[in-house]
Amino acid sequence: MRSPQVVSDPALPTEVTIYEVGPRDGLQNEAELVPTAVKAELIGRLLAAGLPVVEATSFVHPRWVPQLADAAELLGELDRTGIDHTVLPVLVPNERGLDRALELGCRHIAIFGSATETFAQRNLNRSLDGQFEMFEPVVTRALAAGIDVRAYVSMCFGDPWEGEVPVGQVVATGKRLLDLGASQLSIGDTIGVGTAGHVRALVAAFGEAGVGTDRLAMHFHDTYGQALANAHAALQVGVTTFDASAGGLGGCPYAKSATGNLATEDLVWMLRGLGIETGVDLDALLATSVWLAGVLGRPSPSAVVRALGAGG
Ligand code: HMG
Ligand code: MG
Repeated sequence: MRSPQVVSDPALPTEVTIYEVGPRDGLQNEAELVPTAVKAELIGRLLAAGLPVVEATSFVHPRWVPQLADAAELLGELDRTGIDHTVLPVLVPNERGLDRALELGCRHIAIFGSATETFAQRNLNRSLDGQFEMFEPVVTRALAAGIDVRAYVSMCFGDPWEGEVPVGQVVATGKRLLDLGASQLSIGDTIGVGTAGHVRALVAAFGEAGVGTDRLAMHFHDTYGQALANAHAALQVGVTTFDASAGGLGGCPYAKSATGNLATEDLVWMLRGLGIETGVDLDALLATSVWLAGVLGRPSPSAVVRALGAGG
């Protein structure tokens, strides 16, 4: 079968927005540098497959993430291939990153905070409180320039150095990022340790703090095989935006034990079976991930890519 039998669940949303992070969260973790032309082709194919949002790259320090040091070249390459790069979000941690993004006309940026002290230090070289001082001028200047700002919050379900992360700490961090002026908060399970009840509890806690599901996205990594179950749990409590990465690429170079994101194909398969619209052409997406697995020289970890790639 190339597509699941559709059995809709009237209790679930009818439409979901998939925020594709493969070119950024996926490729930032590759041991070998991926050629800029391959990145541009990946983004072009993802857009052609109907992904409504494709995060392109990061304007972080090139020494911290050499995999994405070609951010400016990539955006230029996209323009040359007829893709308007200004509609694609890019990660920006600080004012230097914002300057680089503004120079190239980017209209959508994402800041990325941490719910824990240790990861703030390791990922941003800032304290938990210090990260907000770094983000504040970024968001202020971006909003003044009419640029949309998304905010990630990492380590929401557990941290490899600190262990359990209290729900209240995640909500407090997320609220501070939203209060700076971000339009959407993406709740990151950076190391993939979350489980379904935890997801529902966290969404409920945000709701009690006045942050509704219309302002939330879920960002699951699949380290413990929970990403799809967690996405279903989030759907049940009304979340309609999900981050995913084509073929399940990914990880985070500054979070030990972080593996790939929820695979976009696995998410699309589940949503299609539930009769939930995403606008994504699964065959075109699959062909993209099979092509990329060939380029990277290893099979995709996505169950759907493996099943359909082998003939379905
Ligand atoms: P720092 O060393 O503290 O930076 O790094 P600084 O402000 O002290 O500046 C030092 C030098 O770096 C200066 O140069 C700056 O100009 C330069 P100098 O004056 O010495 O010649 N510099 C930059 N150059 C280019 N672009 C920049 C930039 N900033 C400073 N943006 C910094 C602080 C935040 C920059 C660094 O820690 C960094 O780049 N971190 C990024 C780490 C990262 O990208 N991690 C992966 C993304 S997060 C993730 O994957 C999680 C997520 O998927 C959600 C989830 O799963 O949970 C989003
Ligand atoms: Mg991530």
